[in-house]
Amino acid sequence: MTVLVTGGAGYIGSHTCLELLGQGYDAVVADNFSNSSPEAVRRMKELSGRDFAFYETDVRDAEKIDEIFRNHDIGCVIHFAGLKAVGESVRIPLAYYANNLESTIALCGAMKRHGVKNLIFSSSATVYSGDNGMPLTESSQTGNCINPYGWTKYMCEQILRDTAFAEEDWSVVLLRYFNPIGAHPSGLIGEDPADIPNNLMPYIAQTAVGRRDYLRVFGDDYPTPDGTGVRDYIHVTDLAKGHVAAIQYCREHAGCEAFNLGTGKGTSVLELLKAFERAAGKTIPFKVTERRPGDLPVCYASTGKAAGVLGWRAEKTVADACADSWHWQSQNPNGFNNQP
Ligand code: NAD
Ligand code: UD1
Repeated sequence: MTVLVTGGAGYIGSHTCLELLGQGYDAVVADNFSNSSPEAVRRMKELSGRDFAFYETDVRDAEKIDEIFRNHDIGCVIHFAGLKAVGESVRIPLAYYANNLESTIALCGAMKRHGVKNLIFSSSATVYSGDNGMPLTESSQTGNCINPYGWTKYMCEQILRDTAFAEEDWSVVLLRYFNPIGAHPSGLIGEDPADIPNNLMPYIAQTAVGRRDYLRVFGDDYPTPDGTGVRDYIHVTDLAKGHVAAIQYCREHAGCEAFNLGTGKGTSVLELLKAFERAAGKTIPFKVTERRPGDLPVCYASTGKAAGVLGWRAEKTVADACADSWHWQSQNPNGFNNQP
């Protein structure tokens, strides 16, 4: 079966394409390189030993997307394409609403025109309200998002739920990722943030390789065992496998269903830092600073639904993710383009 992967040159998309190609699926990738590089596509081909069609296009370009559906017999679409930087979404909200909502609407329009009805959407744990108890289950309260990025995911989920409700043979799977980290074990592909990283793992990795002076730990007075924030870090290759499991489910069920993709285990900022230090064999400087506005003390997934219904569970540990992340970062200190 051929899977159209939008945003497939990006961090999670590239790892998912490798998993798809490795499991015998054909992939067609569409990406506008707004946050990724052609080098990632070249390496995906090298690593998989397989060629695949790549289209450099914005998903909102209806003519180009129609061409893709005409040229390939697409059985399922995975929609990763989107903007994802939380701080930037606060500064330029219209760009976030325009890109993330319009791309989803345009893609569904093209799918409708071409009779393709299986869609897997990259959602996020950020759609859950901050006042839920832990672990978060798929029926925990959603909404009350604290930034425009979160609202775009919440709104896209609603658009897709309505689309699946309106046409009974549609099958939409909403995958709510917790905190993806790590890299392909080859060290050839990994996370390559364009700017100073917002997220903890790439910041630690760039500090370890000497691109940042020290890590700022955002608060050590949370009600957690060591006072620092606790999150559910999931290895990106486990996440990639979750998408393959979702394709199978998508083909066998109609409707719209949400699944958490996490490990169910919490790790604190200092625990992640120490795990990375062990993987890299070096000390990483840090300073404790103020809390970051909007941060929760603790956030982790209930994983029962994905295990029971999709038959998928995360297998790798935080130590594995740190080792793979260090392998990637130390071999590619400046990411794909390797320019300082
Ligand atoms: P990424 O930025 O590495 O990948 C997104 C890709 O989409 C990039 O290659 C970018 O060039 C492309 N893109 C963006 N807008 C596009 C458009 N209009 N047309 C074509 N291509 C476009 O991000 P990622 O970490 O791989 O995330 C993938 C998806 O998962 C995103 O939708 C993101 O919001 C979601 N997500 C990510 C995380 C995370 O922590 N990384 C967590 C939860 C959800
Ligand atoms: C953030 C986003 C969320 C997004 C997710 C994955 C916010 C408020 N939330 O979640 O919408 O879905 O990333 O992309 O930005 N930390 C530090 N120092 C740093 C960076 C982070 O101490 O330099 C801490 C944070 O306070 C937090 C933990 O590390 O306790 C993880 O942070 P991060 O990687 O940004 O992920 P989330 O906050 O879970």
